[in-house]
Amino acid sequence: MLPLEKEKNSFEGPRVFAFSSGKGGVGKTTLAANVAYALSCHKKVLLFDGDLGLANVDVLFGLSPRFHIGDVLAGRCAIEDVVVCGPGGLRILPASSGLVKLTNLTETQKLVLLEEFDRITAGLDYVFLDTPAGISENVLYLNLASQERVLICTPEPTSLTDVYALIKVLFRKHHIKRFHLVVNFVKNKAQALEIYRQLLRVIERFLGSISLNFLGGIPFDQKVSEAIRAQRPLLEIYPNTPASKAIREIVFQLAALERTSFEGGIQFFGRKIMGVCA
Ligand SMILES: Nc1ncnc2c1ncn2[C@@H]1O[C@H](COP(=O)(O)OP(=O)(O)O)[C@@H](O)[C@H]1O
Ligand SMILES: [Mg+2]
Repeated sequence: MLPLEKEKNSFEGPRVFAFSSGKGGVGKTTLAANVAYALSCHKKVLLFDGDLGLANVDVLFGLSPRFHIGDVLAGRCAIEDVVVCGPGGLRILPASSGLVKLTNLTETQKLVLLEEFDRITAGLDYVFLDTPAGISENVLYLNLASQERVLICTPEPTSLTDVYALIKVLFRKHHIKRFHLVVNFVKNKAQALEIYRQLLRVIERFLGSISLNFLGGIPFDQKVSEAIRAQRPLLEIYPNTPASKAIREIVFQLAALERTSFEGGIQFFGRKIMGVCA
């Protein structure tokens, strides 16, 4: 057997993607939730809601979770009690207010959380982490806990600078070099590509050897907010609307990504961990 094949076959556990943006309100939760929903129709998928914003996943899908991560840490329930079943059989792990500062957890709490995560993600195909806005320690932690990082930005200059700031800190402080980009609220694919190239130029100039893979653009689409109001996945109720078509293309690209070796200092899901995060 070739060494490469051996490495491929010996890998276990789900593929873990963090969705981040730096700035809020760019469509991160909408994208993470719909990508997770799309894949859950054929695969075993968990969506971890680490976003404490207003349109969080339970609101998006009209769910009312009884428990959250804080209850697991306090020993009030097991992680299975926190997971709720969403549309299409999607498993959702609501974090809500229970997501305290992850880096402030005691070693024991971290171990509890890790073991619980390992247990519920064993046997899954994908785990998606919807991270909060900003560059807080939780955002960095969730990004380090992932194997792949999907960044979402819009054509607005402030969104670009925020996403650049996130790349910079993950690269400079944590040596993460591989990212994927989605540009939301675009007029067409050409605009999305232009934004991608703009960001790439800045990265090449100031940060050097980083891989930024273009996953696609999503147009502004009125049906997105209609789906949110209906508390159903966009892809379920408006499968042929332009934003749904664009999201399906992104899903296709994500599913086609080769597994790569892990980057960064810690691994969280389906992998043994090491030490503390920065
Ligand atoms: N492609 C889109 N077209 C139209 N509205 C969108 C689109 N993507 C997101 N939105 C709207 O933008 C708002 C913010 O989206 P959300 O996914 O909650 O962003 P974030 O998680 O980045 O804060 C929501 O009201 C959502 O309906
Ligand atoms: Mg959000």
